[in-house]
Amino acid sequence: MSVKSLTLLNYRNYKNESFIFHNNFNLIIGQNGHGKTNLLEAINVLCKFKPFRKTNLAEIINFGSDQTRLKGEIQNKGNLNEINIQLLNNSKIIKVNNKIVYKTTKYSNLNKLVTFLPQEIELIKGSAANRRNYLDLMITNLDPEHLVDSKNYYKILKQRNALLAKPPKDSYSLLEVWNEKISEPAERITKRRIKFINKLSPLIAKYYSKISGTGDLINIEYKPQFEITSNYTDDYISSLQQNLKKDILRKFTTTGPHRDQIIFNINGEDSSKFASQGEAKSLVLSVKSAEIELYRELSGEYPILILDDVSSELDDMRKSYYSQLLNDYSGQIFVTTANLEPVFKRNANKIFHIESGKIIRESG
Ligand SMILES: Nc1ncnc2c1ncn2[C@@H]1O[C@H](COP(=O)(O)OP(=O)(O)OP(=O)(O)O)[C@@H](O)[C@H]1O
Ligand SMILES: [Mg+2]
Repeated sequence: MSVKSLTLLNYRNYKNESFIFHNNFNLIIGQNGHGKTNLLEAINVLCKFKPFRKTNLAEIINFGSDQTRLKGEIQNKGNLNEINIQLLNNSKIIKVNNKIVYKTTKYSNLNKLVTFLPQEIELIKGSAANRRNYLDLMITNLDPEHLVDSKNYYKILKQRNALLAKPPKDSYSLLEVWNEKISEPAERITKRRIKFINKLSPLIAKYYSKISGTGDLINIEYKPQFEITSNYTDDYISSLQQNLKKDILRKFTTTGPHRDQIIFNINGEDSSKFASQGEAKSLVLSVKSAEIELYRELSGEYPILILDDVSSELDDMRKSYYSQLLNDYSGQIFVTTANLEPVFKRNANKIFHIESGKIIRESG
């Protein structure tokens, strides 16, 4: 898949700008604060109908304007779809090929992007929730049922927590019903996560060794707060029962997939606590590379790569890995940089020079 074109109207610091992209390597060059990341974010909005992370939609509307519009064409397996997005303060209207679309996931699920963003170091250094969310997103991409189970799980969890906080007639007897109910999606979520980790772990180890050039051992551990034997439901329900006093005291459910740990170990040590910045960055890069490989294997397609600000603080080892990744990649790539480094110039098919939300020069 590839994004052929994009027009931005009142999108962040872009007033009215149009881009025709190359289907391989696009390089975006500009000084700090001129709109490089904004452009990548807009590409994400065009493909997924939302920014990279939870952002208030009003924030992306140009200061002083009351709405923003994005228009673009996405080529996907022989289909050219024209996307039209209008964002107002609290609402969005999405049209595909001039028809309003209500079930947007039908289109957004077709588009796969793999991002390399500076803040994604959080995947390693941040809380376990970061790793759970990331993993769940990857699994959902491959199996939409995972999202159905997650939504159901959190709905039941909310009801169970409400009961813990305020039991009717001061009785917790209803909890047994909720324990049974929640254990069903919990089992499916946990089993999918474990299966996926078993697949992902050797791939991440392979890429880490390539990127870091060390013999460090990488493995991913999935750690629920209770031991799983052959019967998950029984194990989980007895864990809920054992933790009942604690749950009542804290007024929320303390065990289950929403609290499970996902630990990336380097030589047996938890990387969220012990990895250096460089090790953590190499690990993120390995996770992303593994994600690309898995996606390619399953769909036969290249995802779009979005690399924001990769040139900053790269050591030679990772620089050469990036350079090779970009050289060998047949899919579409968007890279931003403040300095035109030789490694990017050699590769780029099209270069956009950005200044204050405008293309001041275009080459290739
Ligand atoms: N809603 C908005 N309306 C107008 N301008 C905005 C809006 N949101 C952000 N900006 C401006 O966009 C600029 C930041 O753009 P962006 O993050 O894309 O920069 P960048 O080129 O990626 O910079 P860096 O190299 O520092 O990462 C800031 O100057 C900010 O004020
Ligand atoms: Mg930026």
